[in-house]
Parts: sequence; C-alpha cells; structure tokens
Amino acid sequence: MTEKVLITGLPSLLGTGLITTAPKRFHLTGTYLTSPPSRLGNTGIKLLPLNVTEKAAIAEVIQIVKPTIIIHLAAVSDIDYCQKHRSEAEAVNLAGTRNVVEAAKKADCYLIFMSSVMVFDGRKGDGYDEEDKPQSLNVYGQTKLAAEELVKQSNLKWLIVRLTTLYGWQPKRARLNPISWMLNELAADRKLEMVTDRYTNPIDNLTASKAIWQLIDKKLTGIYHIGGQDVVSRYEWAKAVAGAFGYSTKLITPVTSGVFTSLAPRPKYAILKTERIEKAIGYRPPNLVEGLQGMSKK
Ligand SMILES: NC(=O)c1ccc[n+]([C@@H]2O[C@H](COP(=O)([O-])OP(=O)(O)OC[C@H]3O[C@@H](n4cnc5c(N)ncnc54)[C@H](OP(=O)(O)O)[C@@H]3O)[C@@H](O)[C@H]2O)c1
Repeated sequence: MTEKVLITGLPSLLGTGLITTAPKRFHLTGTYLTSPPSRLGNTGIKLLPLNVTEKAAIAEVIQIVKPTIIIHLAAVSDIDYCQKHRSEAEAVNLAGTRNVVEAAKKADCYLIFMSSVMVFDGRKGDGYDEEDKPQSLNVYGQTKLAAEELVKQSNLKWLIVRLTTLYGWQPKRARLNPISWMLNELAADRKLEMVTDRYTNPIDNLTASKAIWQLIDKKLTGIYHIGGQDVVSRYEWAKAVAGAFGYSTKLITPVTSGVFTSLAPRPKYAILKTERIEKAIGYRPPNLVEGLQGMSKK
C-alpha cells in the first residue's frame, strides 16, 4: 500500500540519502526553507516552502500533503552556530518541533524525529546505548534533547533516531559535512589541523537512510541509535579520507581540541552503540574504509 511521507528539511545530507534509498511504496513530499526546489534535480519529488517556526504554515503543508508519516529533519544543526545563537536554535529545533508535533497530532501521523549523539556528554569511552541517561554539553544537543521529550510525550506513534556524525555527498549549497569539508581542504592544498582527542563512529548517509526506512517499514517505535562500525578521531578519519580519495596526508596535522578555544564544547566520545537496531532490522554498517570507498566511486 502506498503511503504518503512528508519530510521536513529534505534538501540536506540525510534527505538526499532518504530520497536515494526510499522504498517504492513511500510517496515522498519534502519541504525546504532557503534552498530552491531545483536542488532536487529530476527526482520528481515535490518540495513545498516551510519555516517550522511558523505554526500555521506546518498545518497548511500537512493539509496539502495529507501524510500518514512525517520525518522531521528540519533543524539548525551547526553545533558552533547554535552555541552562539541559542534563541534561534531553540526557536527552530525546539519550538519548531513542537509545531510539527502539534500538527502531526491533528493528522494522527507516525512521527519520526532525527536526534543526535550530541545529547550525551561523551564521558563513556565505550559509547552510549538507548538506555543511557542523556546530558548534553552544548546548545545544539540541549535543544535536540528537549525536542525528544516533546516527541515522547506527544501520545503519537513516534520513533526517535539518534545519529552519530553523518558523511556523504550533500546537495549543492547544503551544509558541508566533515568529509566534504576535508576534501575541499585537501584539494586546495591547505593545512588541516585535526584533533586526536575526540572520537566518533561516523556513518554514511546512505547506510543510515536505508536503516531509517527499514525502521519505518516495520512501524517500529521508541529510540534507536545509528552509527558506524569504526571509532576514529578526526585525525585518523582525515587520514583515511585522504587515502580513499588519493590525496597526500602530509598536510594533515595532529592537534588537541584545546587549540580550538572558540568552538562549542563537544563530547570526548561521541559514540553510539547499535545493538538495538542490529537486533531489530539486522543492521550491519560498512566499516569506514568500505564506506569511504563507496563514496569515492560516486
Ligand atoms: N549531519 C549530521 O551529522 C547529523 C548528526 C545527527 C543528527 N542530525 C540531524 O539529522 C537531521 C538532518 O541533518 P542534515 O545534516 O542532513 O541536514 P542539515 O544540514 O541539518 O539541514 C537541515 C534542513 O533543515 C532546513 N531548515 C533549517 N531551518 C529551518 C526552518 N526554520 N524551517 C524549516 N526548515 C529549516 C534546512 O533547509 P534549507 O537548506 O532549505 O535552508 C535544511 O534542509 C537534522 O535534524 C540534524 O540535526 C544530523
């Protein structure tokens, strides 16, 4: 049976992955804030303008699309920007999610909310599972955590997906992800100062998206963590990227996070464990080298 899915913030890295991996039975409509619809190329997917901070606008979009499923991606996700613009981060990530939740309630939709490893403080060296108590170090993580609470208390059928750091090819003009940033720097022969004392298990946008569709297809509810197989520091990660894309590693310089005094605080171990999703859908992410090789062939 065809199901109508509304995806907020579709012209994004994760949105691109969701479009690429969507099972045929889902009919997608997306929303954008600033990007023109042409960003979606020839996918044929309809895009509607939406600012999630405007309550009436989301109700209107839902009335037009009549979805049974809403995937809420729209967010201000730049961690350092959020740290300096708390009220904007709260308006979009928290109040915006409240607007989406209220509208989803009226339409009785299955709501999928995208959250982040940034809800944790990163003191646990072996990573976090879904039962661990979140406590965020930065504004972005705090807004995501508060929004999770709204979703949980909504009485809707809900799914919260927490992601580690995503990488992949994002649409033109979308926010750079760590790999697209590293590739720009490597291509320009600029020195890359990469930290050796912050760790994550990054995941490519296509693997994450496939897993999200499988969770949705099974109509699963609750919280699920998605991350990659390998844990790396940014320094190790940059060297792997250079290797996969044929760049020299000579300009990649190890530094400690103390060098970047103006950046938002980040967890030392931004690592998510994935046992729950492995059991639920047989999730098996590629290792980092396989993930990067997959990206370098596209
Ligand atoms: N990327 C990661 O590593 C990562 C990790 C964990 C969780 N997440 C979460 O996963 C989701 C997708 O992340 P992403 O990195 O692929 O995308 P992103 O760069 O966070 O972009 C999100 C989208 O939100 C839209 N947006 C921003 N403010 C809005 C507003 N006021 N109203 C409506 N739309 C608005 C943007 O639209 P325009 O481009 O049209 O302006 C953009 O398409 C986000 O919720 C993010 O927080 C991402």
